[in-house]
Amino acid sequence: MMLALPSTLWALASWQSGPSPPLATPAPPGQTAFASQAGLPAFSLQLGQDTASVCNSSTPGTAGSIISDDGHGGNSSMFFWFFESKNDPASDPVILWMTGGPGATSVGYGNLMELGPCRIAPEGGYTVPNEFGWNANATILFVDQPVDVGYSRGEHIPRGLTESSAAMDRFLRQFMTAFPALASRDFYIAGESYGGSWVPALAATILESQADGNTLEVQGSSSGGASSLNPPPSQATINLKGVMIGNGLIRRSIQNLGFFETACSGPESLLDSAECRHWAPRAMWCEKNLAICESEGMKSPSCKEAEDKCSAIGQVITGEKHRNPYDIRLKCDDPEACYTEMQAIDEYLNQDAVKEALGVPLTERFQGISLNVFKQWEELGDLWRASDDYVNYLLESSIRVLIYVGDKDLYCNAAGMRQLVDHGLDWHGQPFIRFRELVPWYVEAKVAGRWKAYESLTYAEIADAGHLAPFDRPLESLTLINAWIQGRMPAM
Ligand SMILES: *[C@@H]1O[C@H](CO)[C@@H](O)[C@H](O)[C@H]1NC(C)=O
Ligand SMILES: *[C@@H]1O[C@H](CO)[C@@H](O)[C@H](O)[C@H]1NC(C)=O
Ligand SMILES: *[C@@H]1O[C@H](CO)[C@@H](O)[C@H](O)[C@H]1NC(C)=O
Repeated sequence: MMLALPSTLWALASWQSGPSPPLATPAPPGQTAFASQAGLPAFSLQLGQDTASVCNSSTPGTAGSIISDDGHGGNSSMFFWFFESKNDPASDPVILWMTGGPGATSVGYGNLMELGPCRIAPEGGYTVPNEFGWNANATILFVDQPVDVGYSRGEHIPRGLTESSAAMDRFLRQFMTAFPALASRDFYIAGESYGGSWVPALAATILESQADGNTLEVQGSSSGGASSLNPPPSQATINLKGVMIGNGLIRRSIQNLGFFETACSGPESLLDSAECRHWAPRAMWCEKNLAICESEGMKSPSCKEAEDKCSAIGQVITGEKHRNPYDIRLKCDDPEACYTEMQAIDEYLNQDAVKEALGVPLTERFQGISLNVFKQWEELGDLWRASDDYVNYLLESSIRVLIYVGDKDLYCNAAGMRQLVDHGLDWHGQPFIRFRELVPWYVEAKVAGRWKAYESLTYAEIADAGHLAPFDRPLESLTLINAWIQGRMPAM
């Protein structure tokens, strides 16, 4: 199957069809060098040769690394894997997926557990096709970021969200230079959990970077090619249309209110009446006081105190009630090991044969979660820092925003997300979306959740799904995002 894969050939063709980029320095064997251009450092591309042996799918995709100066005196090697659309790869949009953490692998967990075209088999060791992969009607791109996550490496771990967003903006412009056929497509960024920060921060960074003139000069197939000094805008920019945030953390001071409601309302409520009466005053205290983290800073002692007090109810549900914080219907004793799939993915991607097929040096250990990244974020106070300013900026810039939530999650629960959408975002549509009613959306003949929208903001709940909604409800998640991309909601 080596090199005979349509996807690999397509990738090779797409970068070799235009005039060859001038080589900066001779690249090591197996790498293709790209010269520096308009604000973009020189880089080289190292492709894996046999994704089909790793991903059991009709679309095993193209995997590789972009090796570049990291802007901090060292080099970075960013690992990516993309899967072309099964529908119309020449014109369907591109979706970048960002798993949370911070510090969790998109290539591993997002791809092989949730929405890629193949998934780790329940018993581990091999993959099986995923009929509901998000590349049904879009090309999907997974990147292990920032460096130190997954197969990505570098001498400098970004210092927080601002630096990591700049690094991803650079990566994307290099990626589009290497794969110019993808550069003019509609572009969406999607993510989950801490993706509530990754996604809007990167989207805002791309908009600002392009406003500063950091556009692409891709070797397009249109007349003129590399010599055309002013490529048409559709080729010169990342064509950002929208973002999707699934079970995301955006503004903790507002979303935290949802813990009490999740624990104390409805048939699945987790605490009994006496327990709820005990926790009610604390819920009120948190409603008034957690915002201190926004006014006094994430590292202030008053913020630390508020964080401790306001995370206590969640700890009762995990520690004493032994619930899975990502899906309250399930029991789980260790919140870090509720899903055996994650360990199976770590083991799978650490096999020599897999690394070899993906073009990764055998000496690199695949890191499903980078504790270095997580600790860096914690130290800087970026772990829980609110990202609503970015979301507001996108909404006011007419970038479409889909906030979706699997309604059985505890950590980023639907009750808190409703608070956020109704009261926690400062944009001109907020007073309007607030009084819109949630109405059902459907997959085939069945209700699959509730939703509402105003202008560029859509809010959707996915029924009977947890934190990892595309894992729990693959058909419903795919149906939702496909419909939203087309500007509608799923109906019968
Ligand atoms: C970065 O990569 C370039 C090109 O491969 C190489 O010449 C240089 O020595 C590398 N720098 C570091 C700090 O590894
Ligand atoms: C989505 O893709 C499927 C095939 O993967 C195709 O049958 C369907 O028409 C596509 N839908 C749209 C709206 O493009
Ligand atoms: C691919 O997945 C199918 C199940 O759909 C399984 O039977 C088969 O063994 C898998 N192939 C490989 C090479 O893992």
